[in-house]
Amino acid sequence: DWTMGAYREQAIAAIREQVGDEQVICGLSGGVDSSVAAVLLHEAIGDQLTCVFVDHGLLRMGEAEEVVTMFRDHYNMKLIHANEQELFLGELDGQSDPETKRKIIGKLFIDVFDKYARPIGAKFLAQGTLYPDVIESVSFSGGPSVTIKSHHNVGGLPEKMDMALVEPLRELFKDEVRDLGRELGLPDSFVGRHPFPGPGLAIRCPGEITRPKLEILRKADAVYIDQIRKHGLYDDIWQAFVAILPVRTVGVMGDGRTYDYACALRAVTSVDGMTADYFPFSHEFLGETATRIINEVEGINRVTYDITSKPPGTIEWE
Ligand code: XMP
Repeated sequence: DWTMGAYREQAIAAIREQVGDEQVICGLSGGVDSSVAAVLLHEAIGDQLTCVFVDHGLLRMGEAEEVVTMFRDHYNMKLIHANEQELFLGELDGQSDPETKRKIIGKLFIDVFDKYARPIGAKFLAQGTLYPDVIESVSFSGGPSVTIKSHHNVGGLPEKMDMALVEPLRELFKDEVRDLGRELGLPDSFVGRHPFPGPGLAIRCPGEITRPKLEILRKADAVYIDQIRKHGLYDDIWQAFVAILPVRTVGVMGDGRTYDYACALRAVTSVDGMTADYFPFSHEFLGETATRIINEVEGINRVTYDITSKPPGTIEWE
């Protein structure tokens, strides 16, 4: 695509111009935005870039390995794999208020970045901020400025560490970022990935976060996504995930009584994440998926489907 080809050249020139020969750090989540930002930066400044991948213990099944393999082994980037599971899960222990959870995670991201970035002496912090992120954090539905959720970003970091921001995707929408990713040679499997939020599974686990609940959630989510792929629906959906609910209900399995967690499946269509409609799965698909989750995931005995659009709902549960 010639447009993205031109954008790429111009963005690379702008990055080089902005950072000169200084060191840059970039938070890499493995999501589309930060991945595209990292590859673009790497192309622009090579080894002046260090990426920090924070494993907060709230990632999906196999996610850490996938990201590290891709960027360290395939792209040969300088990548710090920060295993901070104890820190994040420890601080979140016993917390159930959504905003409190988000604030704890946001603060810990800053601490962890600070810890890994300081020795590098980076003068710049790169982020994969998109245009809708800029808009949504400013106003909602064109009305007065209201904070719906404290979106995770490393906003407090630049002042604290005296760094300037590099945001090469700031003018782009999600579909344009995907085009740019393809232009940069990122594999389709990566470029086409559903968005995944910075706070990760924390906001898909309403109520208190525990390791056993996270383990159940990871397994259920993997089955659900497998179902979606098997039915060829992945690319028709903006985002799909499971939320584990803070309630256990009674069920029957074989000739025994069960008392396990209920979960909710979420799948939406959207253009930019700002509005969304629930995805119209067939009843067959939903029934088959519920059966698979209950049979394959110990700890869940009830599956529901969330049919709320945005607005009035949000895509995530917290
Ligand atoms: P909501 O739930 O606000 O989500 O309708 C809209 C889109 O944003 C993602 N999201 C986040 N992404 N940090 C992120 O990087 C966050 O704190 C965050 N919260 C929500 C969400 O997954 C959806 O794609």
